[in-house]
Amino acid sequence: MEYTEAWLKYRRLSLSRQQCEERLYDSLISYAIPFEEGLKESPCFGALISEFENGVEALLGMRPQRVTDGSETLRFAVDPAFGSEDAYSIDFTQNGKNGAITASDVRGLLYGVFHLLRLVATGKSLADFSQTCVPSNPLRMLNHWDNMDGSIERGYSGRSFFFADDQVLVNDRTRAYARLVASVGINAVVINNVNVKNAATYLITDRYFDKVRALSEIFDEYGIALYLSLNFAAPMELGGLDKSDPLDPGVIEWWQKKMAEVFIAVPKLGGFLVKADSEGRPGPFTYGRDHADGANMLARAVAPYGGRIIWRCFVYNCRQDWRDTKTDRARSGYDNFMPLDGRFLDNVILQIKNGPMDFQVREPVHPLFGGLMKTNQMLEVQIAQEYTGQQKHVCYLMPMFKEILDFKTYMPGHEDATVADIISTRTLKNANGGIVAVANTGNDENWTGHDFAAANLFGFGRLAFDTTLDPESIAREWAELTFAGSTKAAIDAIVNILMRSWPAYEKYTSPLGIGWMVNPNHHYGPNVEGYEFDRWGTYHRANWRGIGVDRTTKGTGYTMQYREPNASMYEHVETCPEELLLFFHFIPYDYRLKTGKTLIQHIYDTHFEGAQDAADFLDTWKNLDGQISDKEAYERVLERLKIQAESAVEWRDRINTYFYRHCGTEDEHGRKIYE
Ligand code: GCU
Repeated sequence: MEYTEAWLKYRRLSLSRQQCEERLYDSLISYAIPFEEGLKESPCFGALISEFENGVEALLGMRPQRVTDGSETLRFAVDPAFGSEDAYSIDFTQNGKNGAITASDVRGLLYGVFHLLRLVATGKSLADFSQTCVPSNPLRMLNHWDNMDGSIERGYSGRSFFFADDQVLVNDRTRAYARLVASVGINAVVINNVNVKNAATYLITDRYFDKVRALSEIFDEYGIALYLSLNFAAPMELGGLDKSDPLDPGVIEWWQKKMAEVFIAVPKLGGFLVKADSEGRPGPFTYGRDHADGANMLARAVAPYGGRIIWRCFVYNCRQDWRDTKTDRARSGYDNFMPLDGRFLDNVILQIKNGPMDFQVREPVHPLFGGLMKTNQMLEVQIAQEYTGQQKHVCYLMPMFKEILDFKTYMPGHEDATVADIISTRTLKNANGGIVAVANTGNDENWTGHDFAAANLFGFGRLAFDTTLDPESIAREWAELTFAGSTKAAIDAIVNILMRSWPAYEKYTSPLGIGWMVNPNHHYGPNVEGYEFDRWGTYHRANWRGIGVDRTTKGTGYTMQYREPNASMYEHVETCPEELLLFFHFIPYDYRLKTGKTLIQHIYDTHFEGAQDAADFLDTWKNLDGQISDKEAYERVLERLKIQAESAVEWRDRINTYFYRHCGTEDEHGRKIYE
């Protein structure tokens, strides 16, 4: 087999007749879809039927029959008055025997079917089950950083399954991918890297229209809108113009014609993602224009076709001088975009990374959340574990995402609004919003390199759909589906490893929010000063006295980008959450933390603990030999956990030795720290 079905395995349940009856699984055997004729037009109709019939047959060994004589035991119903787009309900409380799935559209019904199958696959009883699910976010998106030569920027799971040799791939795996991500509620996907170069610039030309359309149609069958990343300099590179100034009439006209052409050729296209004026990519700054000028020009060009422009806020000066302690990369997103609040058109959405730096293991929440009050916003997280172990280490990120979503921004007039409230469009009644993850898939057999990294793909979709879910329940659901047929002890152990994994990774890598300390370029493994004298603005400023960046008003002033009381909380050492202490403050090694430990002792202790956690994960897994239903997956995970345990020791020793050499303080517990 070229690829696994991941959490959609639907392993046959071994249940007695009586158990099937008790759990009301019998009610899945015949179904009806009233008003079927009208619904057949919906692109998701085929997927709805096949997912339901195939899923039930795989799980229960009986294929559901569609009936029209009123004898059905399960009824699908589309009720436009039901509620918001994609909402659905599953209800088995009507007469104690029959069930109903109701939604406002067929995509909602499809989500309902995937939900129902998850319930059955994890052995839940349908008797008395009733739940209404309304998606938290309008847009639930994945960004693939796939290049057209087949490589993937920050890809850790093999090559691209969207592109190879400058061609667009449309094959079995396209559909398998669409099923997988639709099953957890993803409704939008960008297929190409944000850094649009070379052949990718031509994705909006007839060189690729047929294949892009074919891809978009398969996506559409699963309720997913295809998006493309765009090259802001396309008028020059494709159109032969001498500029791409967003206010130039010739440029404006070029884009209008281009968009007409693109949307006629690919009518299902959702819109475009743009990385402009960032890390060498072209943008409006070249012409003295700002990001609103750039985004709005494109937004006007796609508006006639219902298209959206998603504009990234990851804009900073990547040619900094380490000697300059006033310029602060963390400030740049806010400094660039806050003055533009209110200027973006309704079909523009700003895409903001979760933190002000770049997907570190710990960062404060980006101050644009709670800052912007008149702009559509989307939260960008990364499940490709660029800085969190690159899918060699297990690092389950839902607990981190949950903290970000639950962060209170104290936006004026909406003091209780969390990040989740803002991006959902609930707080500001924005026209658009949502959440996006940089994807972690590739053409590896198991999709994500590390089998456990699939928990991040699954978890992201589940959390995007319902931001109130709890990360541990998501982990358990994923483990039960993926490792169906394993022992209960094995499932418990997997959940335990997942839930301990982000804290463990944080413990054995960079301390207390300072970040980086990785090898330059590829970003894997420890290198404490790897970026310290470089141009990227990612410094930790460690010396013989202490470590940390002063981002208070006495330093770079970044703390003042937050609303009160957050600004004051971060400004003062006493109130700054300790997990972010070094992000905001320069702290001497002998400073006493709330635990009573000195900073240096905390660094030693957490590094010993983190490496021990990684060793424990490996031991736990070894003890599960024979208890995991999928032997190949067991071996793959075993191999990765060994790599992680070794790498964690390397991190521990490099970090501890670095700081020991700087301050000369002995470990209170006399453990081995290399000279
Ligand atoms: C990070 C990453 C780059 C990526 C960039 C982005 O800096 O290392 O590979 O292009 O983020 O998000 O645009």
